[in-house]
Amino acid sequence: MLLLTSTAALLFMQQAPAENVDWDAEFGVEEEVRDPETGELPVDPYVEDNANAGANPYRSTRLAAAFGGREGIQRIADRAIDLSATDPRIAEIFISHDIVRIKRTLGEQFCYLLNAGCDYSGRDMQSSHSGLGIRRQDLNALVENLQVAMQEAEVPFAAQNKLLARLAPMSGDVIER
Ligand code: HEM
Repeated sequence: MLLLTSTAALLFMQQAPAENVDWDAEFGVEEEVRDPETGELPVDPYVEDNANAGANPYRSTRLAAAFGGREGIQRIADRAIDLSATDPRIAEIFISHDIVRIKRTLGEQFCYLLNAGCDYSGRDMQSSHSGLGIRRQDLNALVENLQVAMQEAEVPFAAQNKLLARLAPMSGDVIER
């Protein structure tokens, strides 16, 4: 009798396949919706401030011209992120992060630092990288990709190094191990 009951119970369980179950709804997972205008995912609220860019901008306006102005700078930021998000050394770190937002905010940050007429609207370096587990070698890979992007855009070396000099002191806020 016991055997019969447990066999029946087993059969019953097998007859209830978990097909068509909306697991997100079942466990209350909220779907993240991209902004139809910007294409970006929402982020938790924070105070926007140019101080979040992590360094002061250059005063000279000639530097921006060496990067091709605001548009040239954005193209370089986009390219550096495209290279990094497909770079086997560090691509994994970018998975499940909002590439659309990273490109925009990185472009803004560079544009602000190079005095090309932007405000930086992103988060500060420490909070935006906390928990990513970034190592010194990951940072080196990202910097290499940025150098490739600047080289492709024919930014003169001296100007490239000016941008890198502004970014270098941020490593302490980005590297975690
Ligand atoms: C000095 C070096 C770096 C600078 C200046 C920088 C700059 C930025 C900026 C401006 C943001 C966007 C902040 C926001 O969304 O509000 C960001 C986010 C991010 N960065 Fe970096 N970054 C640096 C190094 C790195 C490195 C080495 C990696 C990985 C190899 C990395 C991976 C990421 C990722 C995955 C995000 C998205 C975080 C999120 O979705 O919340 N970053 N970074």
